[in-house]
Amino acid sequence: MAEPRFYTTLLLAILTFVHGRLRNSEWKGSGCPPPGLTLNGSKVVARPGSIPDYSTLAEVKFSAELPAPAAFIPEKRLCKIKCIGGRWVGPLCRREQEQGRFEPLLRSCKLDTFPLHLVLTYKNITITTYNDVFPHGAEIQLRCREPLGLYKLLGESRLQCNNGGWSNRIPSCIPTTVLTNYTDDSPPTILVRIPSGSASVEPSGVLAVFPGSILHLECLFPRKVGTPDWTWTSSFRQYLTGWAIAAEERDWKYRLSIYYTKPQDSGVFTCNTPRGVTNSLAIHVTAVHCDSLERQFNSTSHLTARIEGTRLGQTAVFQCPIGYKLNGTANLTCQASGEWSSRLPRCEPILCPQITNDDSHLTITEQNTSYGGRVLFKCAWGFKLNGLPGLECELNGSWSGLVPNCTRIQCPAPVLPLHGRVVEEATQGAGVYGVGAVVQFACLPHARLTGEASIVCTETGYWSQPPPLCKPGCEYPGEPEHGLLVPLKFWYEAGDKLQVSCHAGFVSPLQTSPVCLEDGSWEPPMPNCTDYRDV
Ligand SMILES: *[C@@H]1O[C@H](CO)[C@@H](O)[C@H](O)[C@H]1NC(C)=O
Ligand SMILES: *[C@@H]1O[C@H](CO)[C@@H](O)[C@H](O)[C@H]1NC(C)=O
Ligand SMILES: *[C@@H]1O[C@H](CO)[C@@H](O)[C@H](O)[C@H]1NC(C)=O
Ligand SMILES: *[C@@H]1O[C@H](CO)[C@@H](O)[C@H](O)[C@H]1NC(C)=O
Ligand SMILES: *[C@@H]1O[C@H](CO)[C@@H](O)[C@H](O)[C@H]1NC(C)=O
Ligand SMILES: *[C@@H]1O[C@H](CO)[C@@H](O)[C@H](O)[C@H]1NC(C)=O
Ligand SMILES: *[C@@H]1O[C@H](CO)[C@@H](O)[C@H](O)[C@H]1NC(C)=O
Ligand SMILES: *[C@@H]1O[C@H](CO)[C@@H](O)[C@H](O)[C@H]1NC(C)=O
Ligand SMILES: *[C@@H]1O[C@H](CO)[C@@H](O)[C@H](O)[C@H]1NC(C)=O
Ligand SMILES: *[C@@H]1O[C@H](CO)[C@@H](O)[C@H](O)[C@H]1NC(C)=O
Repeated sequence: MAEPRFYTTLLLAILTFVHGRLRNSEWKGSGCPPPGLTLNGSKVVARPGSIPDYSTLAEVKFSAELPAPAAFIPEKRLCKIKCIGGRWVGPLCRREQEQGRFEPLLRSCKLDTFPLHLVLTYKNITITTYNDVFPHGAEIQLRCREPLGLYKLLGESRLQCNNGGWSNRIPSCIPTTVLTNYTDDSPPTILVRIPSGSASVEPSGVLAVFPGSILHLECLFPRKVGTPDWTWTSSFRQYLTGWAIAAEERDWKYRLSIYYTKPQDSGVFTCNTPRGVTNSLAIHVTAVHCDSLERQFNSTSHLTARIEGTRLGQTAVFQCPIGYKLNGTANLTCQASGEWSSRLPRCEPILCPQITNDDSHLTITEQNTSYGGRVLFKCAWGFKLNGLPGLECELNGSWSGLVPNCTRIQCPAPVLPLHGRVVEEATQGAGVYGVGAVVQFACLPHARLTGEASIVCTETGYWSQPPPLCKPGCEYPGEPEHGLLVPLKFWYEAGDKLQVSCHAGFVSPLQTSPVCLEDGSWEPPMPNCTDYRDV
């Protein structure tokens, strides 16, 4: 029995979830069969040039990417499967470039239904895409959407992915009194007002407040039903509570005020209705500053900003000049983590898509894809433009209209003259009379042509002349014996009459004069003059 040689080979694969399904039950050799690793439904193949004879391998190493939500860079892992007793075992993985132990890969978690009114945060970044996958061990945070206190979170705000399952049920957000028209059993709405100072909502739903701020927490409850009650967890001090004073607020706003917040004020503030329904707000007072933003951008970045400050809860609003669009988030808030809520946005010049021309008769004579730039079109000779001759690049990055196309200028099929025929045609195809097409006509033998025998299709889409006319008629029939014809012409039109005038002593046998017919004959036929003695 040959010793399986020790080989490693690197397979590059992206694992959505590493099943590493090894179909090897029928294998009876000393080593292991080809791994037949199916990842993501398709078979993994070794890189060209790597060892094809898997039966000599003891171990296969490959790098893999852990699944990650759309906005995150997937983590890389170095994984291996081992051939033990004719079977592949594994995979075991560890972080790349680290010397830790190889551990079994555990299953990732999905969040396929995005709960209503919930805001999901992963690694302090809000996730807005659906169907995201989180690696084993990932911790997500959930809170109800802002304004804070409009919904009450039911359940845990922190969930961890544990080998394919979440540590807790996905919480839900239940509407409070403002949304339920003050229904008795709904939790009271808590409004937060910050007349002085700043605060930001943390991913967990905690309100992070900068020290020295003034906070009014307003519990909304109908005064005629009863008076709610504020309770708090901090033992630092007593807080002023009571119905609001202003006439329009006094019947439904039960207030708690925190003046000049201090770190010791941190805690949970709960409004309890007389029926025992509650809603809470967690406050965390912390003197966090974020990095100055000014240092991060300059005139070359085109960004302009209105920056409130760098204290927790303060915001910066960015703008781009006309002709540029903002890539990123325009509003940044300084968060309790000391980080701005998003990275600095960038101003990107607005560019319209390059127009690709697949119409062989259309030429683009100028193309400037910048905002305000234009694209100009021209058609080949004999073609006309269908659409606008030029488009402008607009603010939203789209062209001001549709790309035109070129269609062949065509003259209508010429009318074949009655008693005529076509001698020759030079066209762009059967029945296609493009610019330059020539049609030459002739008349049938008994008809005479008037007009131009040849007509040309011009750039106007009209023929150079109308088709000619063919007038039917009769040729000079020849002089009858012993007589003359009146009038004497080379050509007689249909309907023309001839007088036969016989020489002295001769008579025409006809009572009526011959008439020229459309087929070129005379009716009655041209007589001879006969000697009157013979009549
Ligand atoms: C894995 O499957 C997902 C969804 O079916 C797909 O978007 C992704 O491109 C696949 N990855 C690989 C490497 O085939
Ligand atoms: C809210 O409740 C009041 C009193 O019960 C009622 O008059 C009013 O119509 C309700 N409004 C809505 C929008 O349901
Ligand atoms: C301005 O910022 C850009 C990118 O942020 C940087 O490349 C450039 O050197 C900066 N210019 C000045 C004058 O600081
Ligand atoms: C913003 O910039 C990123 C990175 O350069 C790019 O991938 C993305 O497509 C841009 N988004 C928009 C809307 O232009
Ligand atoms: C950004 O802030 C401005 C002013 O503070 C506000 O009007 C705007 O709605 C905010 N935009 C977003 C997307 O939050
Ligand atoms: C997220 O923010 C909190 C404070 O709000 C901070 O303690 C924590 O380290 C941050 N987590 C990450 C992954 O940045
Ligand atoms: C493109 O058009 C813009 C706006 O009209 C103009 O400022 C810019 O100079 C043009 N670029 C070129 C290369 O012509
Ligand atoms: C761009 O703006 C123009 C008018 O300003 C509008 O007609 C057009 O539909 C917009 N295009 C897109 C893709 O939004
Ligand atoms: C040509 O342009 C016209 C008008 O813009 C449009 O109706 C037609 O569909 C276009 N034809 C082709 C083949 O693109
Ligand atoms: C008239 O005379 C010519 C010559 O003799 C003859 O060919 C022709 O048939 C005659 N026409 C008629 C109508 O008799």
